Amino acid sequence: MFELEPVEPYTDVDLDWTDENSRVGREHNDLEQRDIELVSTMVDGWESASVVYIGYPIWWGIAAWPVNGFVESNDFTGKTVIPFCTSASSGLGESGELLEELAGSGEWEEGARFPSNVSNEDIQAWLEDLGYSPKR
Ligand SMILES: Cc1cc2nc3c(=O)[nH]c(=O)nc-3n(C[C@H](O)[C@H](O)[C@H](O)COP(=O)(O)O)c2cc1C
Repeated sequence: MFELEPVEPYTDVDLDWTDENSRVGREHNDLEQRDIELVSTMVDGWESASVVYIGYPIWWGIAAWPVNGFVESNDFTGKTVIPFCTSASSGLGESGELLEELAGSGEWEEGARFPSNVSNEDIQAWLEDLGYSPKR
């Protein structure tokens, strides 16, 4: 498990999507402000990982942009990549395809969307259906 952690964390006020002058509101309105520096993008044991799950909340129909820098910084060659998201109501949409484009490598699968209150059981059932057996 590797947490994507922005150098400048998002506060609740930053995340007020109803205010176009909030941090996310400004980032949403200006592509140039969506380049979010992460504390680290280097995952221990990356070379030996064959399946990578990338989880994120949906922001305005796409993956929350702090994920972009992570996919741009890593080489997914030879790896299966499975995007998944939580959202209030939106589907996965094009979020996986857009991340795949940014990554430029890896075998990306379609992935899945979960409601924000998804249960551990539902996640477990999904993982089992996928047929991979992630180390826990
Ligand atoms: C900036 C922002 C934009 C969001 N845009 C959407 C959206 O377009 N569609 C949607 O269903 N949910 C949207 N949401 C809701 C988040 O997807 C939801 O809060 C998140 O997946 C749940 O994770 P949490 O429980 O950690 O907040 C948005 C939330 C934020 C903060």
